[in-house]
Amino acid sequence: MKNFLKFLISHSKSYGFIFPSNEIYGGINAIYDYGQYGIELKNNIKEFWWKSMTQLNENIVGIDSSILTHSNVLKSSGHIDEFKELLVYNKNSKKKYQVHLLIENHIKKFFKNDNEQINKILIRLNEYFKKKDTLNIINLINELNIHDPISGNKKDKIWTNIHFMNMMFEIKNSKNLFLRPETAQGIFCNFINVQKSSRMKIPFGIAQIGKSFRNEIIARQFLFRLREFEQMEMQFFINPKEEKKWYKYWKNIRLKWHNSLNLGKNKYRLIDHKNLAHYASLGVDIEFNYPFGFRELEGIHSRRDFDLKKHELFTNKKFIINNNKKVKYTPYVIETSLGLDRLFMAILSSSLKEEKLDNGKKRTILKIPPCLSPVKAAILPLVKKDGIPDIANKIFHNEKINHNIIYDYKDSIGKLYRRQDAIGTPLCFTVDYKTIENNTVTIRYRDNMNQERIHINEISNKIELETGLKNILKKLLNN
Ligand code: GAP
Repeated sequence: MKNFLKFLISHSKSYGFIFPSNEIYGGINAIYDYGQYGIELKNNIKEFWWKSMTQLNENIVGIDSSILTHSNVLKSSGHIDEFKELLVYNKNSKKKYQVHLLIENHIKKFFKNDNEQINKILIRLNEYFKKKDTLNIINLINELNIHDPISGNKKDKIWTNIHFMNMMFEIKNSKNLFLRPETAQGIFCNFINVQKSSRMKIPFGIAQIGKSFRNEIIARQFLFRLREFEQMEMQFFINPKEEKKWYKYWKNIRLKWHNSLNLGKNKYRLIDHKNLAHYASLGVDIEFNYPFGFRELEGIHSRRDFDLKKHELFTNKKFIINNNKKVKYTPYVIETSLGLDRLFMAILSSSLKEEKLDNGKKRTILKIPPCLSPVKAAILPLVKKDGIPDIANKIFHNEKINHNIIYDYKDSIGKLYRRQDAIGTPLCFTVDYKTIENNTVTIRYRDNMNQERIHINEISNKIELETGLKNILKKLLNN
């Protein structure tokens, strides 16, 4: 579909998934709010990730550390000195760009599937970055004949004022406080607290879900590159000798986790890192095929003992593990870091479909994995008379304690089905005249629109069977 991204953004807004933040005041660039169905989907994703990490692994526990972070933490972690983006101005259009994104997006578009050519340029670019060689970077932009991608005007190609900018938000009027750029540092700072209070032994992990903030300059891909976003991160502390083993282990586990959602195996690819972050020795991205092509969804890194050693140095605290008194070491860390908003967008973009019906009409449908759907089932009356709405309403009130379901009667049954399809509700139960006779209802399945009758007493089990998180967690456990 042409302009699928526009369709996705508009559908997300019309059906209460995503709203532009502060919209009545004109909105804020790269910041979004989650609407009534968006927050349900987001919470379900969080629950799935959290349970997969902490409930399925007895050696992983979760924490929730503060967002406001002391500058000393970020000085030690290298964020104050290293967490910088190289920016460049377009003199003609007066727009600012992050250099690596400007070049990367250009060559991916220009050279399409010629990965050899793309890699050649990226390696060159990385070399210049390492040397902070801004002159050669400008030369590269000119050599590639890049013009302003937003204005689209081929004459807009005078690039100037190249400089580095730190990506963190510093809190004004509050000395030494920053909004954290990653959740990971809260985990490192609490390493001793968690280890002592839970009596954990290496290998063990600490998981966290929370907001992070980065002052992104290029932010034009909906939820993909935000200034305020959520991360789901897990730091797994290991014996340094086992770095490669655990790195491979978590790479496999994370890919399996993504595949369990059935968004399509061809939607993912693994890309080994050519340009590692300042803290990492090994790194791979799980990329997802978004409406604008493959982009990073989750990163898996070996951070070695970089962070713990730095915090040891700056605090004089010891992070040394002394498991059997003889072998002492500062643990290495394998990190899995997933962007919640990016996963939300991956799910939404791969689920949104337009299907042609037999009667020539179209239906818009969100084929969200049922265990993550914002609403699990709808209870609908076939007609608005003869006591039928009352029966539907009664079923709804009996079931609402068990599942997130809704009761709707405000339209004809056809329109009610369409609405549930558009928000991704996997099951609809329709109450009709037969219900009065024999206590059965029609169940209608979202994906194939098949219908069958079941007894009212079976509704709860049916919802659990078709939409419960337990089934997918069980599969992961047995895999
Ligand atoms: N602790 C490691 C870390 O933060 P990262 O690759 O910078 O590594 C990890 O970020 C994940 O966070 C990314 O894979 C992505 O899913 C998400 N992420 C990073 N920046 C983001 C942004 N500006 N908007 C939305 N998600 C972002």
